[in-house]
Amino acid sequence: MSNIVRLLGEGGSRKVYLLRSGNVLKIEKDVCIADNDVEARIYQLAREVGLQHRLAQCHLSSDGLVMEYVDTTAQCLGKKLPVWTRLIDNNQVGFSRKGVLVAYDYTNLLPQEPAVYFDGSRFSVKSEKEALEETLRLMQK
Ligand SMILES: Nc1ncnc2c1ncn2[C@@H]1O[C@H](COP(=O)(O)OP(=O)(O)OP(=O)(O)O)[C@@H](O)[C@H]1O
Ligand SMILES: [Mg+2]
Repeated sequence: MSNIVRLLGEGGSRKVYLLRSGNVLKIEKDVCIADNDVEARIYQLAREVGLQHRLAQCHLSSDGLVMEYVDTTAQCLGKKLPVWTRLIDNNQVGFSRKGVLVAYDYTNLLPQEPAVYFDGSRFSVKSEKEALEETLRLMQK
């Protein structure tokens, strides 16, 4: 992993390094953590339905999860952030190098399966993909 420039940040489950390519590498702190798989899966599902606009681009590599760099200082904007950012745990959003406000830690978006909904009169069950798609639609505004 000689492509690592420096440690950028650390959360409860991952350490995040800046890579020479300009992307970041997320490495899980314990073998029982699956956040990288979950994040990559969410991004993949979002791409399949064309709703990846608000998610930092990412893919799995043999070293960990490679994600586009995000300037995380936007998180401090608090109430000035658009409403969709409340769907992301702890407002973990920031500006991509292209200047788009995106989520950089979005593991919380994957619904539990089966996701059960109640619309006031009846219950319905949605697949993981349908439930995620619904959330992603709310994030496009
Ligand atoms: N794409 C990114 N670009 C720049 N910095 C990032 C990026 N992703 C994460 N970071 C930095 O690394 C820190 C840890 O990353 P992340 O939030 O993904 O880890 P985590 O362990 O999943 O967090 P949590 O404790 O919320 O579960 C972030 O708080 C942020 O400072
Ligand atoms: Mg985090």
